[in-house]
Amino acid sequence: MPSNTLTITDNRTKEKYTIAIEDGAIRATDFRQIKNGQDDAGLMVYDPGLVNTASCRSRITYVDGENAKLEYRGYSVEDLAEHCGFLEAAYLLIYGDLPDEGQLKEWQREISHRTMLHQSTIEFTEGFRHDAHPMSMLVSTLSTLSTVYPEARNVQDPANRLHQMKRIIAKVATIAAISYRHSVGFPYVYPDNDLSYTENFMNMLWKMVEPKFAANPVLARALDALFILHADHEQNCSTNAMRSVGSSQSDPYLATSAAVAALSGPLHGGANEQVIKMLKAIGTADSVPAYLDKVKEGKARLPGFGHRVYRHCDPRAEIMKRIAERVFQVTGRNPKFDLALELEKKVQADGYFAEKRLFPNVDYYSGLIYEAMGFKPEIFTVLFAIPRSVGWLAQWDEMHRDAEQKIMRPRQIYVGEHNREFVPIEKRKAGQGLKA
Ligand code: ACO
Repeated sequence: MPSNTLTITDNRTKEKYTIAIEDGAIRATDFRQIKNGQDDAGLMVYDPGLVNTASCRSRITYVDGENAKLEYRGYSVEDLAEHCGFLEAAYLLIYGDLPDEGQLKEWQREISHRTMLHQSTIEFTEGFRHDAHPMSMLVSTLSTLSTVYPEARNVQDPANRLHQMKRIIAKVATIAAISYRHSVGFPYVYPDNDLSYTENFMNMLWKMVEPKFAANPVLARALDALFILHADHEQNCSTNAMRSVGSSQSDPYLATSAAVAALSGPLHGGANEQVIKMLKAIGTADSVPAYLDKVKEGKARLPGFGHRVYRHCDPRAEIMKRIAERVFQVTGRNPKFDLALELEKKVQADGYFAEKRLFPNVDYYSGLIYEAMGFKPEIFTVLFAIPRSVGWLAQWDEMHRDAEQKIMRPRQIYVGEHNREFVPIEKRKAGQGLKA
C-alpha cells in the first residue's frame, strides 16, 4: 500500500477504501465512491464556513497560520511593505515576479493612464444620497463599469482579462475618491498622472484650491505600506466571493463588486470601522475591564480580534504598529491608540481570551492610523478594498488559467420535509413557518 494514501473503513458496510493524499489533502470527490446501498449518491463532506476545505491550488499568497508567516509570490510581506511601492507589489501579485525598472515604469504608466472614469459613471454616482455608505457606493459604481466595458465579458482571453484588470486597479481608487467627495459635498478632483498611486488617491480625496496637490511623503509611504499589507490574503471570504462569482464566467467588474460586498461585512473588512466605534464606546483605559466582562457575557464583541487562519498573531498587525509610530510623528498621536494598546494587553493577559486565541488582526490598528491621517471611519473599509482589488484580480485570473476549476457549486444536506400534502389557502393555519 503506498504510504501517501488514506484507508477508510465504512462501518455501515464493512467496506474498505483507499484514497490518495496529495499535497496534504484528499479529494472530496473520492468520497463519492463510499456508498451505503445502490440508491446512495455517495458520501459528502460537510464543512460549514469551508473551515477545512481547499477550493483551489494557488501560487499567489502563502499564509502559515501557526508561524504567523505571510508571503506574496514567495516574498515576505514585511520586506515588501518596507521596500516596495504599492504598484510594485501589485505587479508582483498580478505577474508573479517583481518588475525591473523598465517594467515598473511601464506598469505605472499603464495604471495611471486608466484612472479617469467615463462621464456616465460620474453621473451615476451623483444619484447617491449624501449619507450613502462609501462601501455601498463602491459596490454599485464598480458594477456599472460592466455597462461601460461590455467587452470585459470575454473572460476566456488572457489579454482581455489583463486589460480589464489594469482598468479596475486604476479606477477603483478614483471611484473611492469621488464617493468620498460626494459624501462631503465637494467637487470631484481629476486624477494627476504625475503622482504615485497613493499620492494621486490623496490628491483626489483632499485637493482643494491649490494648483497642485503635494502629499506628505511620510504619509504617502505609510499608505503604500498599508496598501501592500492589505493587497491579498488567499482564500478569505471576499476572495472566495470573487472566485465564486467569477467561476460562472461573469465579467470582472461584477465579480469584483461582489467581492467588495463580501468585504464590507463587520466580520471581514468592515471590522476596521467597528474597532473605532468600540474604542469610542469604551472611552478610557479604566473602562476596559468592564467592556471585557461584557464580551465574556456575550453582550459585546471584540472587532479587530481573532482570525480563522492565524493561531497566535497576525503578522500584519505587528507591522502596522510600527507604521503607526511613523505616522504619528507627522500627524500627532491618535489618542485612541494608547487605549487600543491597553485593550490588547488586557485581552492577552486574560486566560479566557487566550483560550479562544484572540489577538489583534489586520483590522485592529489600521483604522487608528487612517484616522490620524485624516480619513473618516466610514471610508476605512474602502481603503481595504482598493488594494485588495489587486489580490482579487490575481486570484480571478489564476482561476481562469486553472483547468481544474469549475463553476462553484457546493452540495447541501437536505434536512427539510418531504411529500407534504398541499393545503388550499383558506384551510391553512397562520403562525407556521420561521419566526423572526
Ligand atoms: N470577539 C469575541 N469573541 C470572539 C471573537 C471576537 N472578535 N472572535 C472569536 N470569538 C470567539 C467566538 O465567539 C468563538 O467562541 P465559542 O468557542 O465560545 O463559540 C471562538 O472565539 C472561536 O471563534 P469563531 O467565531 O469560531 O472563529 P471564526 O474562525 O469562525 O471567525 C473571525 C473568525 C470572523 C475573524 C472572528 O474572530 C471575529 O468575528 N472577529 C471579529 C471581527 C474581525 O475582526 N474580523 C476581521 C478578521 S480579518 C479580515 O477579515 C480581514
